[in-house]
Amino acid sequence: MNKKKFEINRLISQGAKLRGAGSDTTSTPWGVASDNQNLIDLRVGMPDREKLPSLAFARHISDILESGDAKALEYEYGSGDPDLKSILSDPDYGFTDHSATPDQFAFYNGSSGCMEAFCATFVDKGDVVIVEGPSFPGTVRAILRSEGIIREVGSDSDGASIAEIEEVYLDCAANGRTLKAIYTIPDFHNPLGRTMSLSRRKLISDFCQEREVIVLEDTTYSSLYFDSPPPSSIYSISSGVGVLQMGTFSKTIATGLRLGWLHGAASFISALHKTRSDLGNVPFIQNAVSQFILSGEYDDHIVEMRSLYAAKCRNLCSSLNEYCSDYIDYQIPSGGFYLWLKILGVNATDLVEKAWESGLVFPDGNLFFQDPVKNENSIRLAFSGTPKDKLLEVGPILRRSFEKILD
Ligand SMILES: Cc1ncc(COP(=O)(O)O)c(C=O)c1O
Repeated sequence: MNKKKFEINRLISQGAKLRGAGSDTTSTPWGVASDNQNLIDLRVGMPDREKLPSLAFARHISDILESGDAKALEYEYGSGDPDLKSILSDPDYGFTDHSATPDQFAFYNGSSGCMEAFCATFVDKGDVVIVEGPSFPGTVRAILRSEGIIREVGSDSDGASIAEIEEVYLDCAANGRTLKAIYTIPDFHNPLGRTMSLSRRKLISDFCQEREVIVLEDTTYSSLYFDSPPPSSIYSISSGVGVLQMGTFSKTIATGLRLGWLHGAASFISALHKTRSDLGNVPFIQNAVSQFILSGEYDDHIVEMRSLYAAKCRNLCSSLNEYCSDYIDYQIPSGGFYLWLKILGVNATDLVEKAWESGLVFPDGNLFFQDPVKNENSIRLAFSGTPKDKLLEVGPILRRSFEKILD
């Protein structure tokens, strides 16, 4: 039989092409893996490895499986663990600041899975979705799969620019396009580290309510404040109308749990259920997370993690201030995993390369923009996964990298 040659570029969908599938390049812009043991790796925002609650999870998972309840290992069809939905809906547990009912939650494969589900349910080809520029590309790029149009708006110290949001809205109206949603990360933004002010949240809420634009509020870092919680969520300011909140246990507990949730009006959640085709999440993981929270271990864990990340951020900032203050400009975040540095006097891309040669790796700010031209010579440093003391070495290495370029 004459076997046909399957031409990948003829087969893949337009949405997949828009996300880069089928292109010849296999390299990732985040840099190649290295076996250099002394590498200081500030590329990805990961929870501290030493503090992963492995033993607690081993205990809860084995209790659940040893109980012999078959449900723990069967399809759950997206129904969601009832205990976990009750926990998330009760503001006393701290996952929402607006009381809710359990039918207002749906679980997915991390908040990335939530974004995929959101796009599959709400974004049509040609719909416009506003995102902050810069933003987290991992979630933003899901919009392309639905052939939605991404429009970036800039931010000031209060958060996403209302003037630019209005501009996009007027442009959509003039061109017969639908502005479907605004995707925002109001708390301890990735990559900016900033927190949106209460007044900006109110303006965004009013703007979107008036024009029936959905707010997709990513709360990935909201519980990871250093001293005090962030302002009220856009969800609670809008009394839950027209807002979907995305949450995840990835940064607060462990990325490998792959457990995130969408929280919104029951009608939104019901629409999301109808587009679901993955037969649900992993039941024993959802249940183990419930047990971890109900036992009080989560509370102890999150309190410890907040002060650990605050200490890491302090070490990184003091090292940078001591060695690099002439070369950088930045704002200290009040939570989360990231420092966003404006680089002065040298090209940020050159700095990424020079620091890499000295064993310090971090991404160029360009990677967080859909339109890299908008990057004002910035870099992102993720401090969460690196040992506290190692972060003190960042300033001297970075200074040497600046000096080598300027030499
Ligand atoms: C803002 C933001 N949203 C979502 C995610 C993805 O989280 P998850 O592991 O839950 O998919 C990340 C990961 O870095 C993130 O920074």
